[in-house]
Amino acid sequence: MDKSDKGKNKKLPIAFFDSGVGGLTVYKEVKKLLPNENYLYFGDTLNMPYGEKTQTELIEIARKIFDFFKRQNVKAVVMACNTTSAMTYDILKNDYDFKIYPIIQSVAKVMSSLPIKKLGVFATPATINSHAYSREINKLNPTINVAEIACPAWVRIVEENRLNQPQSIEQIKEKAQEMLKNTPEKIILGCTHYPYLTEVLNQFFNKENLIDPSKAFAKFIKNDLELCGLLNDTNSHSEKFYVSSNPENFKIASKLFCELKELPELIKL
Ligand code: DGL
Repeated sequence: MDKSDKGKNKKLPIAFFDSGVGGLTVYKEVKKLLPNENYLYFGDTLNMPYGEKTQTELIEIARKIFDFFKRQNVKAVVMACNTTSAMTYDILKNDYDFKIYPIIQSVAKVMSSLPIKKLGVFATPATINSHAYSREINKLNPTINVAEIACPAWVRIVEENRLNQPQSIEQIKEKAQEMLKNTPEKIILGCTHYPYLTEVLNQFFNKENLIDPSKAFAKFIKNDLELCGLLNDTNSHSEKFYVSSNPENFKIASKLFCELKELPELIKL
């Protein structure tokens, strides 16, 4: 079946996934632009952090998640995760009959048109080692110099609700100082968990120089669904959350970006 035929049923859900609460930073922006949609969100907390996994492991995980969404009969899947976008999108993109939106590839155009010469990227070790950001941006604009820095500790700080602990602030400061040595004009938060750390990051960077790509990503998704005639034009809207471990923790950790009315459903893929 053609991807757009599948979506002719405009009421079908748009699904999101990430290793945990990070993808909610994207979900929040998409929901703002598209309030009349049916949404599914899967937080793969059992396999968190993705950024420390191999490509083979990430592909196996992503396939299970895509297969789950296929059974849920979704019209689109949003990879609200930079790591899986970098490591699995190219391998899986033709294997499913719904639309697939990877964050890095979807925002590269906007990021490459920034009127700057020096750009910084904070991301997980897997994303940084893949050089997905510098590759995608320099393909479109080779004049931007991209400094990429891996921040292995940051995802756990968010998932374990340790945002304001002195040790967390120290770990963030260490990477911030490393980044400042590159004198970037703007810095991309290249992991969807990092916007949870904005308050601490603002101690080291000017607020307006930190870029959360989720806004540009949400616009991209809206425009593309619109172009493909896939937007829900009825008044029905719903949301359903799933996790692969520890639903209580997910509900607490998600608070900065999403108030869950009930606990997410625990599922095993
Ligand atoms: N939030 C994801 C990302 O954007 C994955 C973080 C992780 O689990 O390491 O890369």
